[in-house]
Amino acid sequence: MGTAYDETYKRSIENPQDFWAEAAQKVHWYNEWDTVLDDSGEHYRWFVGGCMNTCYNALDLHIHHGRGDNLALIYDSPVTDTKKKYTYKQLRDRVAKTAGILANKGVVKGDRVIIYMPMIPEAVIAMLACARLGAIHSVVFGGFASHELAMRIEDAKPRVIMTASCGIEISNIIEYKPILDEAIKKSQHKPTTCIVWQRPQYKASMLPWRDVDWEVEEEKTHPVEPVPVLATDPLYILYTSGTTGTPKGVIRSNGGHSVAMKWSMDNIYNAKEGDVFFTASDVGWVVGHSYIVYAPLMNGCTTIVYEGKPVRTPNPASFWRIIDEYKVNILFSAPTAFRAIKREDAKGELAKKYNLESLRTIFVAGERCDSDTLKWIQKVTGKPVVDNWWQTETGWAIAANPMGLDPMPIKPGSPTKPTPGFNLKVLGEDGKELKAGKKGALCLKLPLPPACLMGIWENEERYRKGYLEHFKGYYLTGDTGYIDKDGYVYVLGRMDGIINVAGHRLSTGEMEEVISKHPDVAECAVIGVNDELKGEIPFGFVVLKAGIERDHKGIIDGVVSLVRHEIGAVASFKIATVVNALPKTRSGKILRKTLREIADGVEYAIPATIEDSSVLDSCKEAIAKLGYPKEAKKESSDSKA
Ligand code: COA
Ligand code: AMP
Repeated sequence: MGTAYDETYKRSIENPQDFWAEAAQKVHWYNEWDTVLDDSGEHYRWFVGGCMNTCYNALDLHIHHGRGDNLALIYDSPVTDTKKKYTYKQLRDRVAKTAGILANKGVVKGDRVIIYMPMIPEAVIAMLACARLGAIHSVVFGGFASHELAMRIEDAKPRVIMTASCGIEISNIIEYKPILDEAIKKSQHKPTTCIVWQRPQYKASMLPWRDVDWEVEEEKTHPVEPVPVLATDPLYILYTSGTTGTPKGVIRSNGGHSVAMKWSMDNIYNAKEGDVFFTASDVGWVVGHSYIVYAPLMNGCTTIVYEGKPVRTPNPASFWRIIDEYKVNILFSAPTAFRAIKREDAKGELAKKYNLESLRTIFVAGERCDSDTLKWIQKVTGKPVVDNWWQTETGWAIAANPMGLDPMPIKPGSPTKPTPGFNLKVLGEDGKELKAGKKGALCLKLPLPPACLMGIWENEERYRKGYLEHFKGYYLTGDTGYIDKDGYVYVLGRMDGIINVAGHRLSTGEMEEVISKHPDVAECAVIGVNDELKGEIPFGFVVLKAGIERDHKGIIDGVVSLVRHEIGAVASFKIATVVNALPKTRSGKILRKTLREIADGVEYAIPATIEDSSVLDSCKEAIAKLGYPKEAKKESSDSKA
C-alpha cells in the first residue's frame, strides 16, 4: 500500500480532471464549470464556463458564514511604529469602497490596474478591489526604478495606477510618487487616473487633472459588490525576469488560482481557518500574491502585513517578536532572511527570549535553501523547516513537503517531492527522461495543474518559445536538477541568465542591456557570484570603447548608478571591473560560466573552443583584485549547473 502522498500524487497525475474537480468544491462558484480542463490548444484552461469572484471567496464568503468579526489582517510596521488590525468585515468594507473608487474612474472587468505600493494594508486592499471588479491587477515591486515601472506600464496599458506617496526602507523614505511620475513620462501609454495613498511621512505633489487622493475619494464613495467573472478570466499579471531586457507578464486566471490556493493551504501548509499566517515577503513577488494575500484570506486565516526587514527594524528579533505577539502558526520567508538573522545572532539567543509555542512550521522559498541555513533555523526554533520550490509562472509550489497530507522526512537541500498535480520529469538534452540521480532539465509534463500561467501578456510567441518549444509536451521550468532514488527533488540552478539575489529573481541579460547604454562601454558581461547573505549577487565585466582614457573608478561608479537608476536598488549591483576584453569561444560566445566558476573559486576547465586564453587570465586577475573568490562553500558552488 502506498502512502497518502503516493496515492494522492498518482490520482492527480492519472486523472487530473476528477482530482481538481473535487478540489474545486471548496471554492464558491456562482455557476459551476462546463469543462474541467480544456487542453485543446496551447493554453490550458481550467474550469471553463465556471463563474466566480476571487475577492468574494477571500472576504465576503467568510462574512456570510458568520465569521465577519474574525481577524483578517494585521499590519505591523516597525518602520513607522504602527500596528493595526482589520476584521474580515472591516477589510471587506474598505475593499468594496476602494473598488467603488476604481469603478468611478471607469475601471471595468478586464481593465488593467498597476499597483506600485509599499507593504501597507492599502496594497492588499488595492489588489482585492481589482479582483472584486474583475479588473486585472499588476503589482510592481517597490524596489524597482522608474524604467522598470515604465516598461510594465507600456506593456500592461493600465487604465488606472494605484500608489502610495512613499515607502520606508528601514529609516530611508523612498518617494514613490516622483518615480511613478517619471515612469509615466517615459511610457507611451498614459493612465487616465493615479490613485495616491498619502502617507504622513511624505506628502506627494498631485497633478490635478490626473491624480486623486485615495483617502478623500474613499470617504465619499459607495461600496460595490463583487462582479462575477469567468474562471478563465485573468486575475492578475505579474511581471518577472526573463533572459532578455523586457520583463514578461505572467497571466494567472481567477478560477484555477482559487482552487490551487485552497488545496495548497489544506495539503501543503496545513493551515486551518483562524490560523495566523505570517509571510515575510512583499506583495510585489509571487510569494506575496499567493501567501500574503489570496491563500490565507481564502482559507479564513489572519494574514500579517509586515513593513520591515528581518534585521535592523530594529533588530534580528523581529520575526520572533511577531510570532510571540500575534501567536503566529505558520511562518513563510526566504532563506536569505534567516541568513541575515543568523549573521547578527548566530546562536539564536534572541529567539529564546520569545514564546514560539504557537508556531507549527516554517516554510522557505524563493531560492535554494542551503543545508546550513535549514539546520540553523531548525535548531534555533525547534520547528520543522519546509523548503518549497516554485516560480512566478506556477504560482504555487512545484515541490514541497505536504504537511497537511503526509509529512515526509526532510532531506536538507531538497524541497522534498513533486506536489500533486505537477508531473515533474528530468530530461536530458535529447529530451529523454533521465534516471534517478542524473542531472538534467527540470520539466513538467503537460497539462500543468490549476493556477499555473495561462500565457504571457500579449506575447504568445514568448510563451511558446520560452516554455513549450524546448521539449514537446513539456513545460520548461528553466531550472536544472535531479530526482534521487527516493523521489526527492534537488534544484541545482538555472539554465539561463537568471540569478537569484536575496530571493529576488533578476536577469543578468537585462543588466547587460542597461550597462551597454553607458557611453564609454563597448561590451559587457554580468554573472551571478555566490554571496553569503543574498545567495547570489551580480558581478559585472566592462570593456571600454577604444580611446577612452577616463579614470576607471569613475566609469564603474557610473555603470553602478545606471543599473540602480534603470532597474532599481533591488538589483544590488555594486561590483564591476574594467577588463581589456571578454573571454570568448571561437564562435564568439562569452564564457560566462567559466568567469562564474573563477569568481566562486570552484574547479573550472578552460573550454577547448576558447579564442584566446590570455584574456581569461587577465579577467582572473581583475576578479582577484576585487577580493574574489571569497572563501567558497562547496555546497553552494555545486548548486550552479
Ligand atoms: N522599495 C524601495 N527600495 C527597496 C525595496 C522596496 N520595497 N526593497 C528593497 N529596496 C532597496 C533596499 O533599500 C536596498 O537599497 P540600498 O542598496 O540603498 O541599501 C536594496 O533595494 C537591496 O535591498 P535588499 O535586497 O532588501 O537588501 P538589504 O541589504 O536591504 O537587506 C535582507 C538584506 C536579506 C535583509 C533582505 O534582502 C531581505 O529581507 N530579504 C528577504 C527576501 C524576501 O522577502 N524575498 C521575497 C521572495 S520570498
Ligand atoms: P520567482 O519566479 O521569482 O519565484 O523565482 C523562481 C526561481 O527561483 C526558480 O525558477 C528557481 O530558480 C528559484 N527557486 C525558487 N524557490 C526555490 C527553491 N526552494 N529551491 C531552489 N530554487 C528555488
